[in-house]
Amino acid sequence: MTLSGCRVGVILTGVVCAWASGLGDAQNASPAQVIKNRVTHFHQIGDAFKGIRDQLRTSDPAVPAVQEFARRIECLGAQIPTWFPPGTGAAAQREDRHSVSSGLSSGDSGKDDHKTRAKDEIWTQRSAFEEAHKRFLAEAQKMSQVAKSGDKAALATQYKVLGQACKNCHNTFRE
Ligand code: HEC
Repeated sequence: MTLSGCRVGVILTGVVCAWASGLGDAQNASPAQVIKNRVTHFHQIGDAFKGIRDQLRTSDPAVPAVQEFARRIECLGAQIPTWFPPGTGAAAQREDRHSVSSGLSSGDSGKDDHKTRAKDEIWTQRSAFEEAHKRFLAEAQKMSQVAKSGDKAALATQYKVLGQACKNCHNTFRE
């Protein structure tokens, strides 16, 4: 796995991740495509998070691996709000499927594998959603910092705190 495409730079508030820039097409993409892309990216975040967990379960965690995973979570995680443009919730997905089945769109096949779990609250309570994201991003950044320090006890603690910040958003904004 190479993460070389992930460039870190400071623009306004934080980290910019070129690695996730494929989502920049979101404006032209169908809701089905936007949903598919974001679920894929969340799975990448999830895999990186599990990667840290797996290292922490070993008797001698590989700190460089943890650093890479943390960087990936931070990089991708910084983009989360951009993955939810208006009109990409469950209702839009249903409409999209309807038009696919009536032959009006060349979008997704309508299979259930990317059925969105995004709740409408993401759009109706946008500022709370952004708050949950900010809280998460602060912990993801801290995870990266702790990973650089290589302090294994601190890593285990921060891993838990980060997991709670994921959950905090999921509790309100994910089905
Ligand atoms: C600001 C909100 C937010 C944060 C923070 C967040 N998630 Fe999520 N996550 C979501 C939403 C919303 C979805 C559902 C997306 C969809 O289905 O369209 C999701 C989906 C996922 C998925 C895809 C599979 C599934 O069960 O839907 C995984 C895996 C995941 N998140 C893991 C994580 C992990 C691990 C973290 C923390 C390191 C995290 N998320 C942080 C909101 C968030």
